[in-house]
Amino acid sequence: MAEWWRSAVLYQIYVRSFADSDGDGVGDLEGVRSRLPYLRDLGVDGIWLTPFYPSPGADHGYDVANYVDVDPQFGTLADFDALVADAHELELRVVVDIVPNHTSNEHPWFQAAISAPDHPDRARYIFRSGRDGGPPNDWTSAFGGSAWTLDEGSGDWYLHLFAPEQPDLDWHNAAVRGDFDEILRFWLDRGVDGFRIDVGQALYKAPDLHDVHEPEPRTPYADWHTGINQPELHELYRSWRSLADAYPDERMFVGEIVLGDQVELATYVRPDELQLAFNFTFLFQDWSATGLRGTIERTLAAFAAVGATPTWVLENHDVTRLPTRYGGGEQGLRRARAAALLLLALPGTAFLYEGQELGLEEVDLPDAVRQDPIFYRTKGERVGRDGCRVPIPWESGPPGFGFTTGRPWLPIPAEWKELSVAAQTRDPASTLELYRSALALRPRDEPFAWRETAPGTLAFTRGDLLCLVNISDRELPFEGELLLASDPAAGDVLPPDAAAWVRIAGRSER
Ligand code: GLC
Repeated sequence: MAEWWRSAVLYQIYVRSFADSDGDGVGDLEGVRSRLPYLRDLGVDGIWLTPFYPSPGADHGYDVANYVDVDPQFGTLADFDALVADAHELELRVVVDIVPNHTSNEHPWFQAAISAPDHPDRARYIFRSGRDGGPPNDWTSAFGGSAWTLDEGSGDWYLHLFAPEQPDLDWHNAAVRGDFDEILRFWLDRGVDGFRIDVGQALYKAPDLHDVHEPEPRTPYADWHTGINQPELHELYRSWRSLADAYPDERMFVGEIVLGDQVELATYVRPDELQLAFNFTFLFQDWSATGLRGTIERTLAAFAAVGATPTWVLENHDVTRLPTRYGGGEQGLRRARAAALLLLALPGTAFLYEGQELGLEEVDLPDAVRQDPIFYRTKGERVGRDGCRVPIPWESGPPGFGFTTGRPWLPIPAEWKELSVAAQTRDPASTLELYRSALALRPRDEPFAWRETAPGTLAFTRGDLLCLVNISDRELPFEGELLLASDPAAGDVLPPDAAAWVRIAGRSER
């Protein structure tokens, strides 16, 4: 299909937590390969693999020590090649994560950079002298504390927007750019269908590194940070786009661009820049009809204005699981199931996160097993992201649930026995079967139009499919042939906190 990425559903695999083939309790590429038929049967179009590159693991792989290899705990390059070959055989695209904002502090470039103040590799990073005995400016790390760490050998400080083990690269340095062109080519040559660009709004820093006076509390978006989101990025992404366009089969970029202003966000997906950018406003929107409608309208308008494809995402490895964010328990799950039908009826590209299709809740882990640097750097003030990264349950029960024959790297809750893939498969009331049906029925190219509807509800059509979402506390009557509902009790009324797909009478057969 031309421009496959315009209406695809991509399934995010957090490699550590998906499937473990060798019993060490950590997921790996061979595990992913063994579960590809599940993803084909689920009905997604491709996978996005989170980083599997050699890494000391300070941020579970987002601290890369070698961009062109596989960490032994995840497998080998041969395993990667076999995974890509099998995925393509099953008509699944493979997108890999590229981490260009920072390296690991154990990357040979950084090791060289701190080995001697005049080492040429030092210019690949951002070292500055301090101010008044402290760091060079007021920037903070997204993981808590200052964004600067003292390099004791030289007395200078280096910048890290994340953990100190993740020193930021200086993208104004031509060598850094050249290296990443080679890294992209390495994976394109191995057949990847695209890249997810980590922290895509931050690679270039304002050259004067001015103070930014961070708002309190810190928002999930980076719009306020005048030291990042620099104009040079657009030129970089144009060059990456033309590099990838030289390959056959439509290789794709999706940027993790964490901006709340959709018009600004859309500047990254102009025709010669990235094909896609995550739209986090939908994810961070509460369960409110006016809020969701507003976000959807702003997104559609901003992306249409540049001819780009909108994207929709509700979960990933950095945020609390959806049923928990929507209130938890039975209510949270009802809403999350309804949101699934909303997500998959919207025009554009959708992203699912492993376990979302099982309706998993955030896990309240004991502090002793937590691993996220956010937890440690904020001294527990922020619990961090481990609760959405617990390995997913495939079958049977504790401790491994078919994820591993050993001990999972984070404990899997005993209650997940009822939520395993095996337990939900062929149960028509299960969340897994809801996703499977929705993925099979989902509209792809049909035009989108809003419909008049009662307050507290959303209604829009995609061709002859009407999507209804009831966020009010009253039943919503409807007419037409019910194709799919998030609540099995839906008949000719839709209960609160539920969604339905209805075929509108008098139109052509789907
Ligand atoms: C992105 C990733 C997140 C990681 C951070 C630093 O936001 O999604 O998991 O910690 O970048 O690389």
